Amino acid sequence: MPVTAFDIPEKYTYQNGFNAYHETEAVPGALPIGANNPQKAPLGLYNEKLSGTAFTAPRNENQQTWLYRILPASSHSDFSPRESATYNTNPENKPHERIHQIPNQLRWDPFDLDEGVDWVHSLHLLAGAGDPAMKSGLGIYIFAVGKDMDPHEAFYSADGDFLIVPQHGVLDIQTEFGHLLVRPNEVCVIPRGIRYRVTLPSGPARGYICELYQGHFQLPELGPMGSNALANSRDFQAPIAAFDEDHSGSTTYTLLSKFAGDLFAATQTHTPFDVVAWHGNYYPYKYDLGRFNTMGSISYDHPDPSIFTVLTAPSDHAGTAVADFVIFPPRWLVAEDTFRPPWYHRNTMSEFMGLIGGQYDAKTGGGFQPGGASLHNVMSGHGPDAVTHEKASAAELKPVKVGEGSMAFMFESCFMVGVTDWGLKTCRKLQEGYNAESWEPLKARFRRPEEGGNVNGTKGHRRVEATDYLTGSSGDQ
Ligand SMILES: [Fe+2]
Repeated sequence: MPVTAFDIPEKYTYQNGFNAYHETEAVPGALPIGANNPQKAPLGLYNEKLSGTAFTAPRNENQQTWLYRILPASSHSDFSPRESATYNTNPENKPHERIHQIPNQLRWDPFDLDEGVDWVHSLHLLAGAGDPAMKSGLGIYIFAVGKDMDPHEAFYSADGDFLIVPQHGVLDIQTEFGHLLVRPNEVCVIPRGIRYRVTLPSGPARGYICELYQGHFQLPELGPMGSNALANSRDFQAPIAAFDEDHSGSTTYTLLSKFAGDLFAATQTHTPFDVVAWHGNYYPYKYDLGRFNTMGSISYDHPDPSIFTVLTAPSDHAGTAVADFVIFPPRWLVAEDTFRPPWYHRNTMSEFMGLIGGQYDAKTGGGFQPGGASLHNVMSGHGPDAVTHEKASAAELKPVKVGEGSMAFMFESCFMVGVTDWGLKTCRKLQEGYNAESWEPLKARFRRPEEGGNVNGTKGHRRVEATDYLTGSSGDQ
């Protein structure tokens, strides 16, 4: 039997809390007390600061971590461009890989697994907006990885924070800050600059990445929901300090940098994973989507899908996200007199969706499959397909649990999200006829009252109002 993700038990310990100020030491006494930058750090370590925001960022946004390591991160050779023929995450600089802005609704079959490449070479830019050099926008990647990274390699992106959503297989991620095991139905965030190495304990892996060129992910406001709901802070897990010891000078390590979309490489003769202790609030973390506390309507009309937001990366405009990470987990539908699938919709935001497993409840048939994707760009109409609409319009509205065994997600962005040549052509997964199959079969059913149209719609569509209580009417008509 092949090893599956579910055969891989958790093997690391973590410290819990979102945007918490953590401190951790792999050797007792490695963290200096009081001063961050003592003249002589404990145990002969070097002091190093990693800044995730400007020094002067407001206190509630400021993110930084102090690292105490065997040798500083700056101790390496010059970087040189690397493998531009096979590695390409920068369509802006390559005319044959430019971003195409198109209004069509797009949907992709499951992307192929690839047993021949490591993590760094598994990243395919599918869609995006903006420019990492201007710290503006986002990139959406499909990864399909089949090989461990070389034991003497480390990778980082200077371009943005990676929100990694595995769909198939397990990622064992060694970071400067310690280890993370990320399985399907878990996600992790590796902020920009943090060096890491990915290995595959269950074989090939596939999934989705949202790279945030600007800002960082945060938890959404909860407003009237109160102090606990959706993704709770305590369920986010950060690594504890763990380090390798190899500074003999006899082994060459390669440091790979994704920098403005291109890949660069430098060498060093000591392990990049030599952080013995750290303290701060800028670190990688993971989250189990099964811990999401789903909210929804218990009367009528389901809320906007923002009610399912796990993480949000705000733009400079309040309430408008560069990227929202939204999930559609198993949940109960109990609302009365309500069309239960999502409504038909056109959005000033763009909506990229993926499916981790199971069957998404707003579509019928096999068009939207685990490992596939869809994109409904700015103002492109979308919603339940004709078959789903027909079924939902006639369904008995008893309480029902939807999405069991399923987990769909959305990256929703305020930007117009363009698609690369890889997404349109090279991957060969773009479906033909998505629109024709989904919405063109919808029939007009409008009838004027004199033609027999029912002005009341479904029975009881009018809610019970104060006058109904006074007169004893049920509100049904
Ligand atoms: Fe929508």
